[in-house]
Amino acid sequence: MPNSEPVINITNLSKTYPPPTGQVLYNVGFSLYKKDVIALVGPSGAGKTTLANIIAGLDSEYSGSIKIDGKELSRYKPHIYRRQYVGVIFQHYYLIPPLTVFENVEIPLKIIGISKRERHKKVSEILKRVGMYGHKDKYPNQLSGGQAQRVAIARALVKTPKIIVADEPTGNLDTPTGMQIIQLIKELTEQINGVAIVITHDTEVIKTIKKRIYIRDGKIEKTKNLN
Ligand SMILES: Nc1ncnc2c1ncn2[C@@H]1O[C@H](COP(=O)(O)OP(=O)(O)O)[C@@H](O)[C@H]1O
Ligand SMILES: [Mg+2]
Repeated sequence: MPNSEPVINITNLSKTYPPPTGQVLYNVGFSLYKKDVIALVGPSGAGKTTLANIIAGLDSEYSGSIKIDGKELSRYKPHIYRRQYVGVIFQHYYLIPPLTVFENVEIPLKIIGISKRERHKKVSEILKRVGMYGHKDKYPNQLSGGQAQRVAIARALVKTPKIIVADEPTGNLDTPTGMQIIQLIKELTEQINGVAIVITHDTEVIKTIKKRIYIRDGKIEKTKNLN
């Protein structure tokens, strides 16, 4: 959709860690438009997590430009950007053990000061959406890996973020469960009118995502758009 504004527009993004690591991203650039789900693919050490952290607003030490809805990321207030724009899903879903499923998903809404009544509505909705409403009163240690990952996704998406950043979200899961998680990310991206960046090296997962960016040694090697 080249005639709409990109949600994310990255140009000349470079990143250098302090020695001994040195430079790990070199002039990376791409754009994501509404409803885009892209796979970010590449070998271990390619710089995928570094790039994901920068887009998620967790690392502001970079050079180049990242525009979100046309405005430089560095001009957003960091906590507002992280709380309201981005939902991050990691391979290791850090659910909080003494809180129930419902309470874990409720946290991001509490942080941004949503009323109890509204929280109840939103948390119930997203838990139904990920198929975990029937487990809402369980504790994390009573869940399977796939169920816990669904809860982590619900927690990342309950505030309806525009940008979903998922760093190897299926890394711990068997292939069918992983596929369901990807399907869910796709549906929610569509529904929220957002964008999603899914980092993966699972070939089965990659096959289901039509837009792909291949990264190697910190450089974009190729991009594919199978639409
Ligand atoms: N916090 C850090 N400090 C220094 N070097 C890092 C840090 N995080 C990652 N690296 C290095 O940056 C490179 C890219 O890492 P990373 O972005 O994690 O790659 P990927 O997620 O593709 O496996 C690697 O060489 C890694 O060792
Ligand atoms: Mg990584």
